[in-house]
Amino acid sequence: MSEYELKPLGNAAISHLRPAKVDRFWFGAPYYPEHWDEETREKDPERMLAAGFNIVRLAEFAWDIMEPKEEEFDFSFFDGMIERLGKKGIMTMLCTPTAAPPRWLTVGYPDAVRVNDNGVPMCHGSRQHCCHSSATFRKFSWIITQRMADHFKDNPYVAGWQTDNEINCHFSECHCGSCQKEFQKFLSWKYKGDISLLNKAWGTAFWALTYTAFEDIETPRRNKPTYVNPACELDYYRYVAFSVARFQHEQVEILRNSQPKWFITHNGIMRLVDYRGLFTKDLDFLGYDRYPMFDYSHENRDSGGAYQLDHVRSLSGNFMIPEHQAGPGGQMPYFHDNPEPGEVRNMTYSAVARGCDSMLYFRWRTCRFGAEEYWCGILDHDNVPRRRYREFVQIGNEMKKVGKEILGTSVFVDCAVASGDFDSNYAHGTYPLGLPDAGWMGGVAHKMLYKSGYAVGCVHPEDKLSGLKLYIIPNWELFDPEWVPNLEKFVKDGGTLVISARTATKDMNNNVVPETLPGCLRELAGISVEEYGKLNMPEQRPFSLKFKDRKIGSEIWYEILNLEDASAMAKWSGRHLDGKPAVSIRRLGKGNVIYAGLYLSEKILKVLMPEFAKIADLKPVWPSAPKGVETVLRYNGRKKIWFFVNHNDGRVSVKKTPSGLNLISGAKNSGKTIVLDRYDVAVIREV
Ligand code: GAL
Repeated sequence: MSEYELKPLGNAAISHLRPAKVDRFWFGAPYYPEHWDEETREKDPERMLAAGFNIVRLAEFAWDIMEPKEEEFDFSFFDGMIERLGKKGIMTMLCTPTAAPPRWLTVGYPDAVRVNDNGVPMCHGSRQHCCHSSATFRKFSWIITQRMADHFKDNPYVAGWQTDNEINCHFSECHCGSCQKEFQKFLSWKYKGDISLLNKAWGTAFWALTYTAFEDIETPRRNKPTYVNPACELDYYRYVAFSVARFQHEQVEILRNSQPKWFITHNGIMRLVDYRGLFTKDLDFLGYDRYPMFDYSHENRDSGGAYQLDHVRSLSGNFMIPEHQAGPGGQMPYFHDNPEPGEVRNMTYSAVARGCDSMLYFRWRTCRFGAEEYWCGILDHDNVPRRRYREFVQIGNEMKKVGKEILGTSVFVDCAVASGDFDSNYAHGTYPLGLPDAGWMGGVAHKMLYKSGYAVGCVHPEDKLSGLKLYIIPNWELFDPEWVPNLEKFVKDGGTLVISARTATKDMNNNVVPETLPGCLRELAGISVEEYGKLNMPEQRPFSLKFKDRKIGSEIWYEILNLEDASAMAKWSGRHLDGKPAVSIRRLGKGNVIYAGLYLSEKILKVLMPEFAKIADLKPVWPSAPKGVETVLRYNGRKKIWFFVNHNDGRVSVKKTPSGLNLISGAKNSGKTIVLDRYDVAVIREV
């Protein structure tokens, strides 16, 4: 098997509807016993148990303890910890410790370290120093993984593994000597050893960039007089994604061969990792490290957080959260707002409602030293249990009841924003034209659907679209023509598809398509684009969008549409655009395709979204839920679990609730009004 076509080693059938493959709702925290003395450690398991823990994560930054010198191994410290916790009923998720290589490696093997865009090699003294493509680093990664796997394979208290830690969190684009060679090899594989195919795909005729051999190609550093070739850049990003997937694959292979009973996950979501590709298909389920307090706007935190969670679910389905915010996070230059009483519990339920099937909180106790000495965990520096700890006792004990009910269920969505594609996502950054990216624009549409109480999610265009009534593809410049039949079927079956400007303008090589725009979507949308333009200062000479009797000032971009097999839903007004079609609609089968020749900004969506919702026949998922109460349904066949999460700054009532069982209180819910205090939640299993 070619190293470029590795067979996935995990649960390959990914979909936004897939539940995570866990046999219980794991609940716990990353735990760093190596930072504490024995007296402090001794008290930990009892306190963890009182907070409902059934798992801790250990050892992701402890390579120096387990292999203090090259080829000298010592696992005794973790043996003791794992057994102490295990005997109390707390299992361990171990980690391959490759995110924090020891000094003997980073200093002793210069060919293992990463080199940044300025050509500077990384020095010891932080973490993530090493390059995933370096043969030397890969060799040491296999060795420590194999030795750990051999040592722990029969340990009854080890339940599973996390590979590495947040691969590419600090550093993704490496330009070391190994990357030069590996990039060339990757390209040679991709272009079948034929340099002329590469020259054609990259358009090297432009600016005399023609290559005569793969060996001449370098990683695209910024050491150039001006802009670089966008096709080359996207291929480089694909190479980086391949190199991290291969690095992880090698660890997963060792772990799976050693003990098939272990679950294996990884904690993302970081830059230049293809989470719908081999990287995730090798795992049992994906992990997502969630820190909502990075958003300093309290107002946006719930909708922004929901979008993130939905995006993660679009990658491969339900997920684990190996690190969730437990208190304010702080690193040298910043310190988060302190989550208020009840706020972490509130965030927990949003996450569980939107697809989290297991949750660990970062971290058990705040460390007194090191680069994260103000990253606040469940316990404070002085190890005195306070308000935060008491909240975790509450959450942990609730999750014992709620967790087991939600396993095996999917999140119900009937409207979605397209999300989760590696190529499309990274293509934009290679040539942004000063325009917002699809992720940003998707967020605008998602927020509006979320705030209106609809069952909104994120779904990749090749995933199952059945069940959706409305599907929005916002400005996906790079677009794979292979997705079109799935979209066409979705529309013919009754769905409403909304595509906005510049979608399908780039091909898979990241070059502009040769066809009339919107390229492979022209027939489906029933329009072509006659002319386009950017609006750099729309406030000075705005055009207006005329929709029914409303006029809205245009923003960002305009396209003039030729209606080929569609009618106009909205027209431009003003100067040379006057009366020209701006938004079109085509009836196809039982559904509709809407093409919006503009960017669906908040201002424009305020007017158009109600129309899209009407055409798609969208209804709020629980009509009597008041504003600011996030309402989500998780289901499996006839099983229905409803989440009501109050994000308002005060008490609200949800009139008319589902009849069934209140999973938190254990009481029967008669279907009448439920009162929710600030940050409070209710979880009802409908009968
Ligand atoms: C994550 C990382 C942790 C810790 C945490 C707080 O990105 O995995 O090791 O650094 O953030 O900064």
